[in-house]
Amino acid sequence: MAPRINPQIAPAAALALLLAAAATAPLPARAAAAAAAGGLLSAAAAAAPWIVGVRRELHAIPELMFQERKTSAAVAARLDELGIPYKRYAKTGLVGRVGAGAPAVVLRADIDALPVVEPEGLEFRSTHEGRMHACGHDGHMSMLLGAAKLLKAREAQLKGTVLLVFQPAEEGGAGGDLMIKEGAIEGASAAFGLHVMPNVPSGSVALRRGTIMAGALSFEITVRGRGGHAALPHLNVDPVVAAASLVGALQSLVSRETSPLGSAVLSVAMVQAGDTYNVIPDAVVLGGTMRALTHEHMMYLKGRVEAMAASHAAGFGCNGTVDWRLDHQPYYPPLVNDDGAADFAWGVAARVLGEDQVLETEPIMPAEDFAFFARAVPSAFLFLGIRNETLGSVHNLHSRNFLLDESALPRGAALAAGLAVEFLARGGVEGGAFGAAAAAAAAEAAAAAGHSEL
Ligand SMILES: *[C@@H]1O[C@H](CO)[C@@H](O)[C@H](O)[C@H]1NC(C)=O
Ligand SMILES: *[C@@H]1O[C@H](CO)[C@@H](O)[C@H](O)[C@H]1NC(C)=O
Repeated sequence: MAPRINPQIAPAAALALLLAAAATAPLPARAAAAAAAGGLLSAAAAAAPWIVGVRRELHAIPELMFQERKTSAAVAARLDELGIPYKRYAKTGLVGRVGAGAPAVVLRADIDALPVVEPEGLEFRSTHEGRMHACGHDGHMSMLLGAAKLLKAREAQLKGTVLLVFQPAEEGGAGGDLMIKEGAIEGASAAFGLHVMPNVPSGSVALRRGTIMAGALSFEITVRGRGGHAALPHLNVDPVVAAASLVGALQSLVSRETSPLGSAVLSVAMVQAGDTYNVIPDAVVLGGTMRALTHEHMMYLKGRVEAMAASHAAGFGCNGTVDWRLDHQPYYPPLVNDDGAADFAWGVAARVLGEDQVLETEPIMPAEDFAFFARAVPSAFLFLGIRNETLGSVHNLHSRNFLLDESALPRGAALAAGLAVEFLARGGVEGGAFGAAAAAAAAEAAAAAGHSEL
């Protein structure tokens, strides 16, 4: 995820949504679900030292995308410790399996780190110089392993299969897409993912229906002219003037061509031109990124960037071509939460963590490759708050000062386990896990069958 995060929490809207959801579930079902949820939170609290220990172990060995060998081995060792079988996917990815049969539900964590130098300070600081878990993926892994521990202890009561997906290469490598293409989530009918978020109060959860994170596409535009002596510009075709003008012109795509009520970003972040003072270069390369909240917006901007690069450069006698760098950084589509899955996750979070611990967030413009899971099956992505001013757990994701309030981790583990337990208890999507009336009936049935101790 890119560094700027600014979810605006709207507690009033959150409360309204919550009341609407609560009103649809009859009392006995809610009581049963609450009993189930309460058990998970106290079990997670008891497992807190184990969960935090796992996180610290992983924090010390951060690895970049598709190089997560030690990380993958450490996760495998913990799954072995828990007696959970697993298979390998996507080079360094793993899928553990708890329970059996249909339906199946995915809980997903990402495992890669960033090329960031971690400052001195933590006892369990990165031992890989120039690598840091600055996006909280160490926390995500520890929460998923914590959930695995809770689920394994309740395996006999599970009404289906939980797929514990540890995916590599979230930071631009589309590891999630590769896992899905290799069949890692075959048979699953829903997926849930958590991301720690420094703007949300520690231990609370923020989510929304529909699009929660943007799509992303990076570009490299080459403006080609004909270089020569800088004192004789009339004998050259100057790509610097053309490229400088193009940088300004590109800004009109978002400001003039996309709806002010839509959300899109186009940033030129890299300019590479000549290397001396008196020679006009042959070419200028512009690099940058585009973000938007809909696939349609992304594709519209893609087409217009190509057209404008060509025609604008041509106006200066240059050629403008665009490379979308898909081999280096695949397209991440916008991350769209399924409405039913988001409502379901909202209800589970309220039961597991408390009704006042669930907030509604606005969408944010960074991208996330959980989007590939959300495209494959109905899914919900949730932000788990880690903001704690006392601890200094306030810095943005991807910052070298990023710090994670570990007290949120057992809560995330309990929530992840709760999502899986309730989804399976309700019979999956077909059983109506995402429909309020059927869900209430299923929860009542589960309670009557004695599953409330879950
Ligand atoms: C922040 O961390 C401190 C120290 O661990 C803890 O006592 C406090 O409860 C935390 N605050 C929140 C809001 O979680
Ligand atoms: C632009 O492309 C055309 C067609 O390939 C070529 O003839 C022309 O020389 C190019 N112009 C520059 C300035 O590179």
